[in-house]
Amino acid sequence: MLGNFVYYNPTKLYFGQDSLKYLNDELKNYGKKVMLVYGKGSIKKIGLYDEVVKILKDNGKEIFEDPGVMPNPTLEKVYDGCRIARENNVDLILAVGGGSVCDYSKAVSVSAYCEEDPWEKYYIRMEEVNNKIIPIGCILTMTGTGSEMNGGSVITNTETKQKIGRVFGPEVFPKFSILNPLYTYSVPKYQMVAGIFDIMSHLLEQYFSGEDDNTTDYIIEGLLRSLIHSSKVAVKNPEDYEARSNIMWTATWALNTLVAKGKTEDWMVHMIGHAISAYTDATHGMTLAAVSIPYYRYIMPYGLKKFKRYAINVWNVNPEGKTDEEIAKEGLDRMEEYMREIGLVMNIRDLGVTEDMFEGIAKSTFILDGGYKVLSREEIIKILKDCM
Ligand code: NZQ
Ligand code: ZN
Repeated sequence: MLGNFVYYNPTKLYFGQDSLKYLNDELKNYGKKVMLVYGKGSIKKIGLYDEVVKILKDNGKEIFEDPGVMPNPTLEKVYDGCRIARENNVDLILAVGGGSVCDYSKAVSVSAYCEEDPWEKYYIRMEEVNNKIIPIGCILTMTGTGSEMNGGSVITNTETKQKIGRVFGPEVFPKFSILNPLYTYSVPKYQMVAGIFDIMSHLLEQYFSGEDDNTTDYIIEGLLRSLIHSSKVAVKNPEDYEARSNIMWTATWALNTLVAKGKTEDWMVHMIGHAISAYTDATHGMTLAAVSIPYYRYIMPYGLKKFKRYAINVWNVNPEGKTDEEIAKEGLDRMEEYMREIGLVMNIRDLGVTEDMFEGIAKSTFILDGGYKVLSREEIIKILKDCM
């Protein structure tokens, strides 16, 4: 049964090949000082940096640059960004890049005027934001996280080896996001498929929980079917606009809070994946890929009905003459086959995990209780062994 919920998404989204022109309109809503946040240079290579700087200057903006945001953005970098934002009293943070740039910008947005240590307040104690929030706009260049239309902000504390995802409320969502699928053409294949699997994982984390008949599960199945089809096309031809635009839009829907409404959620693949990244700095989507099949095989008996439905509705498994277990298992076999076909990393050894890290990774994993099985630390270690 659908639980009670409020659905409100304040992000204004501009999608398509002409979408950058709307930046001119959006800039009119903010003061003169713009903090321009980006990663390690891809936006310069694709010419987007020059275009954005020109638009900012044409609109009379003063630009404060904050480049060098790394994948898996660190707390140390957030402290630097807060200083830039505060000292220059910026009116808008413009994040140009992928999920890391966007997540980092949210962290700076809430932390710049925080009077305590923002890590402790917002990421450890998960308190409500009660200080000034700097508004954010986003121009997305890599698709996967959904950060362009949600309140997620995942930050890594390299000292304590913790990677923590905080989900802020609508007041921290980007005020606007510009999505042009053409910008994603230059994303390297490794990152592209990692992003594709991140989308799949977001959908599955919200799907594999509960046994009720819930509209959002039907939406998830539709999004998964579209993603599987489009990703196969995009891997063969990265410049297929239809496929790249479908993937980009699916990523946004997969984690803009819609499909989670009224239902319980799992998120254990992400919790283990984040702990792996904290130890290895591995690419987010690849950590999820390496963990998913062993994790789902392990929990399948506890959520058999849903795994059977998944096999039939998403992977077109013919149920005739088969037991529920056989059907569910065939679904996971097909998923694994698809993952190998698009070129995902299928074990954690290839991500730099060694056996001596198991204890630490298991300890650093947040254990949640929304899925079909609440894991113990020992079970996490068992799953990690299966992922090698
Ligand atoms: O730094 P640059 O030079 O920009 O290069 C980036 C980076 O190396 C490159 N890239 C991005 N756009 C490109 C491009 N290269 C060529 N052409 C382009 N157009 O891609 C690399 C990866 O970028 P990154 O932003 O790290 O990737 P992604 O979007 O996958 O973000 C990953 C981060 O988001 C977090 C992850 O944990 C990870 O820290 N997540 C955020 C979520 C959220 N906000 O809701 C949820 C997710 O589950 C996830 O945890
Ligand atoms: Zn993710």
